[in-house]
Amino acid sequence: MEVIILPSREKANLLAAKLIAKELREKPHLVLGLATGRTMERLYHLLGDLHREGTLDFSLCRTFNLDEYIGLPPASPYSYRHYMNEHLFHRVNIDLRNTHLPDGMAADLQTACRHYEAMIAECGGIDLQLLGIGADGHIGFNEPLSALRSRTRPKALTPATIQQNAPLCGGEADMPKRAITMGVGTILEAKHCLMLVTGSSKAKVLAQAVEGPITSMVTASALQLHPHCRVIVDAKAGAELQGKEYYNWIFRNEPEWAEYQPLLEE
Ligand code: GLP
Repeated sequence: MEVIILPSREKANLLAAKLIAKELREKPHLVLGLATGRTMERLYHLLGDLHREGTLDFSLCRTFNLDEYIGLPPASPYSYRHYMNEHLFHRVNIDLRNTHLPDGMAADLQTACRHYEAMIAECGGIDLQLLGIGADGHIGFNEPLSALRSRTRPKALTPATIQQNAPLCGGEADMPKRAITMGVGTILEAKHCLMLVTGSSKAKVLAQAVEGPITSMVTASALQLHPHCRVIVDAKAGAELQGKEYYNWIFRNEPEWAEYQPLLEE
């Protein structure tokens, strides 16, 4: 894992946007794994800005989202399909036929999950998987005790997740209590992972995920097994990391980060 701590939320978002843009410019057919949540909104708007400025082309890019609620039609304002259209897809020149989310409305959910895995495989696997972290340490909707080798499947949400996401779903009563999510095993097969975490409410769980033991109680900790995982955080989210000084030294001194070091200047 590489952890990069930037002084502000905006700088963390800027670095994430620059890293994604670099990958997409190098590989126009990039298979991009996408995440939802409040954390990603600014990042997606920044990618939209790069497209509007004429420096980022999504026309050949293919995307697979981590998860989708069960029982919400894509047109629902609370569905992740709606979120993605609004925050990213409608802001860039992506072909909507190249954008994929699990089918939470499928009559046969198990078949839909297998189909999702097959589509990812057909595209040659995910090149870069973007991730956030839930209040309970989940990636995707891999709630505590999710098998670290799990695949795409329906998952019941924990009370902590329902509480965290209810404001985005019109309140707890209307919020779906189940979702389809890529498994931890599916996520670990992505060629590169990029986790973006901001805000003090995530500081404790981030430290558990990055520096704690690998445990299915905090599924983000499974990313410690991934050979190419970068974690970008703002100072607030990074506040409880023990190894802060070491991570900062690497970002300031390793040549691969030289072009991004100006982001450290306030
Ligand atoms: C949801 C998503 C996760 C995401 C999390 C974080 O639970 N399934 O993929 O990481 O939200 O949400 P936020 O960015 O709003 O804190």
